[in-house]
Amino acid sequence: MVFSVYWSWLAALSCLLIMGGEVWCDCTEHRVEIEGGDYVLTRQLNSGSTLIYRCPDGFYPYPALTRVCQLNGSWKPAPKTFVRQRCRLVECPDPTVMEHGTVSPPQQKYFVDNETTYECYSGYRLRGSSRRVCLPNGKWSGATPICSHDAGDNCADPGIPPGTSRIGNMFGIDDTVRYICNGNLYLAGSSERKCQENGQWTGQEPACYYGHTYDTPLEVSEAFSSSIRERLTTTETDDTQEGRKIRISKNGTLNIYIAMDISESIHTNEVGQAKEAVIKLISKISSFTVTPNYEIVFFSSEIHEIVSILNFFNGKIRLSDVKRDIQTFDIGEKNTAGTDLSLVFRHFWEKISAIKERVSEEKFKEHRHVIIVFTDGGYNMGGSPLPNVERIKNTVYMNQANTIEPNPRADYLDIYIFAVGAEIYESDLRPLTVGTQGQHYFKLQIKDLNQTFDEMIDEEDVKGLCGLHRPYETPDKYSQRRMYPWMAFIFIQSQGRTLSCTGSLVSPQFVLTAAHCLPFGVTQKNVKVEIDDGQGRVKTVKNFMVHPQFNINLKKEAGVKEFYDYDVALIQLDEDIQISSIARPICIPGTKETSDALQLVGDSTCQQQEERLLKDHLEKLSFLTKKGSQIYEKDVHAKLGKNRDECISHALEAEGITTTNPKDAVTDNFLCTGGRTPFRDHIACTGDSGGAVFKNYEHRTIQVAAVSWGTKVLCKSGDVVESDDSSRDFHINLFRVQDFLKSILGKDDQNEYVPLTFLNC
Ligand SMILES: *[C@@H]1O[C@H](CO)[C@@H](O)[C@H](O)[C@H]1NC(C)=O
Ligand SMILES: *[C@@H]1O[C@H](CO)[C@@H](O)[C@H](O)[C@H]1NC(C)=O
Ligand SMILES: *[C@@H]1O[C@H](CO)[C@@H](O)[C@H](O)[C@H]1NC(C)=O
Ligand SMILES: *[C@@H]1O[C@H](CO)[C@@H](O)[C@H](O)[C@H]1NC(C)=O
Repeated sequence: MVFSVYWSWLAALSCLLIMGGEVWCDCTEHRVEIEGGDYVLTRQLNSGSTLIYRCPDGFYPYPALTRVCQLNGSWKPAPKTFVRQRCRLVECPDPTVMEHGTVSPPQQKYFVDNETTYECYSGYRLRGSSRRVCLPNGKWSGATPICSHDAGDNCADPGIPPGTSRIGNMFGIDDTVRYICNGNLYLAGSSERKCQENGQWTGQEPACYYGHTYDTPLEVSEAFSSSIRERLTTTETDDTQEGRKIRISKNGTLNIYIAMDISESIHTNEVGQAKEAVIKLISKISSFTVTPNYEIVFFSSEIHEIVSILNFFNGKIRLSDVKRDIQTFDIGEKNTAGTDLSLVFRHFWEKISAIKERVSEEKFKEHRHVIIVFTDGGYNMGGSPLPNVERIKNTVYMNQANTIEPNPRADYLDIYIFAVGAEIYESDLRPLTVGTQGQHYFKLQIKDLNQTFDEMIDEEDVKGLCGLHRPYETPDKYSQRRMYPWMAFIFIQSQGRTLSCTGSLVSPQFVLTAAHCLPFGVTQKNVKVEIDDGQGRVKTVKNFMVHPQFNINLKKEAGVKEFYDYDVALIQLDEDIQISSIARPICIPGTKETSDALQLVGDSTCQQQEERLLKDHLEKLSFLTKKGSQIYEKDVHAKLGKNRDECISHALEAEGITTTNPKDAVTDNFLCTGGRTPFRDHIACTGDSGGAVFKNYEHRTIQVAAVSWGTKVLCKSGDVVESDDSSRDFHINLFRVQDFLKSILGKDDQNEYVPLTFLNC
């Protein structure tokens, strides 16, 4: 990146004399290099280009974060002669401001990885963390330590967070305290807090940060999801009379408006990441139980509308179209100079007004609006966006905000700002947020957006969502459980041997497996289920139910030595599994939840579900196998339609089958996989029996079948082996055993477990 002086000579020669007599030059890379880091340029050395410095974790660029190339070929800010540009160690705000206690060690400055401990003077009690570490993003770990003694005040001492000064030492009803930041730190949270009658302070605890401080993906996802979750989930309330949970879905329509800044200060490579993040955000939202309408724009000095929300009101527009449109959007030759945030809010205001016009005032009352803006740090054109934010508020609040206290319409509008640039103009952006629930302003590095939205949904609170999983590995011991949180292993003691099978958690108390895994004579005491939910791996069994029509000997006389039709069983556990990101049921056909997962709206049917899941003549499906502690995914293709007959014909080659009609052994209740054409499928091995044959849809997993039997034994337990020409596997299609599933999992005249809601199929 470092060029010689010679280069700057060349650059000087490349100045252009343009109309009007102005001299237009390229900038040079002379004297802009950074010690300990590197930089990227948004438009090479052309005027208008932004130079963005980058430093390793725990460091930040100093003195400049960015430089802009001006028309005359000089940088703004210009490199300083006596202060070299370098990567500096991240600093945390001064913690020694704490009252009534000691901070050790006392230091002038605190750097990343420095550890501090806190003790209170006698008579004072410590709340918050007694030990804190300065984190690589410039924040202290844990919570603000506060030394207080009970003085009979109405509110507890609100403390003095690092880097702040507090004005006000009275904590009675209606007393206020104010906070300012020391030095050149900026304030996040509330600058003023008032003690309320209920003993709580208004607002949020303030914090003072350096300009180089970012929120971590985990912080953002926790804060954003706890704030937005309200808007996205159907609520679950306890119906105490029944002793069971019932679901009440929120009525009304949710409109989500997303704007993404593509102005040139966001480096081109990073726009790709931001696009990916928006797509991820949308898929995450879609895995909640709502189906919002979307307006999506990319913006700079102008608006590029990707998806118009009005199309959602016109009729059908599919989520996959939305994603494709985002994916294919190309910045190309578009004018990317400048950031006009005001225009964005004006655009959204116009859309909101258009919706109001279209749906009538009465219906509009039920519309909630969530605006999410990703911006690179500030606005440098179009003036302040605040007037347009006010317009939006007036429209959504329906002019009630000023007349009634508290604002009865406050819940209907949220504006979230994600500041993702190299240089953020905090004071311009923060006032644009709107909303009562939780944090609405986030500052993070654009590379972290991806992870942010991944974390967002791995929440204990979305318990109800079947099939939710993380689609890739993470470097910790629960990585595979997060990918396949529904996976179960079954161990059966039978005639002195231990058989092992696979199963799937289909509700907190039930595991689905193959009937042949539970042979005659086995009792529930002989069966153990292994699901590592973090609360002990092995689960005991209360009961199990085999499909009443399963009868392995039924066709012995008719040339089918072992007949596997209806090869399904449900195992009831003694206790519910603790649902979390590592243990969660898979979605099964025929339930309302699966319709939600498939984003079928209105009164959906089993047939619609089947059309989504098993629509092609060759449907790609997967099942799992375990070798040691490692889980492997096997890929297969269900041969449907005209491909089915050939597939099942191989059943006749199986040992013990003497009939000449393959349909005697493979009824319509089976899916058939295996073979080498047109794809070489994997084959099931010993131990895979009973496992889920599944398909992923967005971030949800849906089980379509259960592994039953195969024509050949080509492998032993845990092997991942490809099929040969004639080997085929057969799996019970769960759409064909609905009555059985519903009779147990949907049973609602009992109090042992929460039933699933089945559709009328
Ligand atoms: C280049 O232009 C900026 C303002 O546009 C001015 O402040 C600066 O002094 C100029 N630099 C040179 C070397 O002429
Ligand atoms: C704090 O961090 C700085 C920079 O890494 C280091 O030089 C110093 O020794 C640390 N102080 C303590 C008490 O660990
Ligand atoms: C929506 O729910 C509220 C109560 O939560 C109710 O007053 C209102 O009538 C409902 N609206 C519709 C259209 O069902
Ligand atoms: C984002 O996460 C996905 C996995 O969900 C990964 O495939 C992709 O490479 C990541 N993108 C970036 C830019 O890190």
